Amino acid sequence: METLNDLHLSGLPKIFFGAGAVLRLPEIARSYGRHALVLIGGQSLAASGRWQALAAGLAGAGLSYRVFSIRSEPTAALIDGITAELGRTPVDVVAAVGGGSVIDCGKAVSAMLVQEGSVKDYLEGVGTQKPSGAKVPFIAVPTTAGTGSEATTNAVVCDRSAGYKKSLRHGAYLPDVALVDPELTLGTPEPVTLACGLDAVAQLVESFTSTKADAALDAPALKALCFAAESLPPLALGQSDTVALRGKMSYAALVSGIMLSRAGLGAVHGLAGPLGGLCPVPHGLACGRLLFPVMTFVVKKVIDENNGPAIRRFAAIGNALAGSGGGDDLSVCRRFLEVLGRWTRSFRLPPLSQFGMTAEVMAKAVLLADNKNSPARLSPREMKVVLETVR
Ligand SMILES: [Fe+2]
Repeated sequence: METLNDLHLSGLPKIFFGAGAVLRLPEIARSYGRHALVLIGGQSLAASGRWQALAAGLAGAGLSYRVFSIRSEPTAALIDGITAELGRTPVDVVAAVGGGSVIDCGKAVSAMLVQEGSVKDYLEGVGTQKPSGAKVPFIAVPTTAGTGSEATTNAVVCDRSAGYKKSLRHGAYLPDVALVDPELTLGTPEPVTLACGLDAVAQLVESFTSTKADAALDAPALKALCFAAESLPPLALGQSDTVALRGKMSYAALVSGIMLSRAGLGAVHGLAGPLGGLCPVPHGLACGRLLFPVMTFVVKKVIDENNGPAIRRFAAIGNALAGSGGGDDLSVCRRFLEVLGRWTRSFRLPPLSQFGMTAEVMAKAVLLADNKNSPARLSPREMKVVLETVR
């Protein structure tokens, strides 16, 4: 019989989802005050002309704002540098318009503007201080569909010279507002769409099958997986690029963020995290490559252990991804793996050795990896087999 996990339901950001949602940014930012800090990504936003329109809207709403362009993953030095440069400049609201790295950077800056010291002091597993949860109001505007950071309570901070990728986390760091506008993701290059999309899929699969799975979110998670299965292949293979398909992927990413904040993740992220700290492999790409081999182990183990609740959860995912084709739970679990295997072949993700994953990095990653809330645990030897597969 399935058992019900304890629930801890915190709030959600105020979410505006749909084409044109970004147009609300000036009015919402102005509701927090007159002084805004705006973080944007690389050149694509400016090249599309959207940033110029947004900037005119911010000025038209009577906001004075500073803009920082974020071109890398957030590091402690980057976050500390932005807060130091701002000094005593008044900031009533922080808005981040970009991919997961830009949103994580904005989330961390919004916290560190009112927190003493370096962000490093407050990172899980790195610093010794607990974050207070105080922050400047924060608005997240994702321009990719992947990390779901617009709905999570953590910001991932990376320092490869120290070999870590760790989170700044507090329940209060949930963005105050998330403006999820699928039009902003139109034209995202296919490799980025693919890596981000597979991150969202991995997050949905791992949180849905987590030992801390939140039954209240089963229905949206399965719907999000259906949407991802429908939209990711045509978008990632360059067969189509429409607002309707982009909207389905943006929805899947948003739900993945809501899910992971409540139920946590599993062995895919337990391996991808340390790998990302040790070599510059993009997070989504690492998750995308690890998903099939890790899930092959996990599904086999839950079947061997006759773990009925986990088998039923994997079967539900199989039905969501492959369509309800009948058969018992075990055959549908196999269909889930068949879909992942098919995606792995058709998406042709590059080997992780291209991003510096050497034998030395693999050995270190296995030592640092953990299974998080996976319903079955991979041994270090099995983790090594997985990494050999994706090398
Ligand atoms: Fe992720």
